[in-house]
Amino acid sequence: MTIEIRPLHDAFGAEVIGVDLSQPLGAEEFATVHRAHLDHGIILFRDQTLTPEQHKAFSRRFGPPEIHVVSWYRLPDHPEIIVVSNKKDAEGRPLGLEDAGRYWHSDMSYLPTPALGSILYAVEVPPTGGATMFASMHAAFDALPPERKESLAKMRAVHHFGSRWYREKDKAGIRPPMTKEEEEKTPPVDHPIIRTHPENGRKSIYTGGFSMGVVGMAQDEALEFLDDLDAFMTQPQFVYTHEWRAGDVVFWDNRCTMHHATVYDAQKHTRHMHRTTIKGDKPV
Ligand code: SIN
Repeated sequence: MTIEIRPLHDAFGAEVIGVDLSQPLGAEEFATVHRAHLDHGIILFRDQTLTPEQHKAFSRRFGPPEIHVVSWYRLPDHPEIIVVSNKKDAEGRPLGLEDAGRYWHSDMSYLPTPALGSILYAVEVPPTGGATMFASMHAAFDALPPERKESLAKMRAVHHFGSRWYREKDKAGIRPPMTKEEEEKTPPVDHPIIRTHPENGRKSIYTGGFSMGVVGMAQDEALEFLDDLDAFMTQPQFVYTHEWRAGDVVFWDNRCTMHHATVYDAQKHTRHMHRTTIKGDKPV
């Protein structure tokens, strides 16, 4: 079957039609999907049915898995998969993290070598709400005036997992505290605010929800600066909102996009997703 690539938005994003991700991709099929990912930043596959093994196998074609630092919401027997869900087990314990990613961010930007991409598979979705918004950081960079591109290129942002974890924990009150080991594994790191994509050569703004400071800037000033940058990057012309259907798989490129999960009525409806994350390289 020929593969069709259908754009989702003026700035970025595409649906890839004619691929069954439960089967190993042939060389040509893989090359088309890989190219679409690099060209569009996020790619969508509809009507998929994936076992954890098949999900991991597709993910591994793009690189080794990055195991999430927080262990309790990994899928049992499949540490490469994290569960984003409001479901509970028979004893009422959460099966996954219900409030994952409800702020603009690029996955694992808090690591010295942040994630290349993430692949989210929608197993069950609510009839309304629970969409995921995506922002193109390539498009946002391209829209900056030249002098701003130049000044941002000299700056570095500090990214820290724990600060964000506790901020979210205080907001929704459903996250447990991090363990000492998890805290020790995620000290603050800094990355350039403008990074160059290692595969397509384009530049993007690289900050987001784990950015908690700017090297050489007072903390209050840095937070205001980062908020302003976030507001710039998430203007409607740079944002695609994905309304999920069960069976959707979205593969986003964390090197040039941010995303933001939105709320839904978790008392009435179920939203259950599996996510793999692929190791990336040091931003430059
Ligand atoms: C995430 O940040 O990976 C969660 C995204 C979502 O649940 O929409």
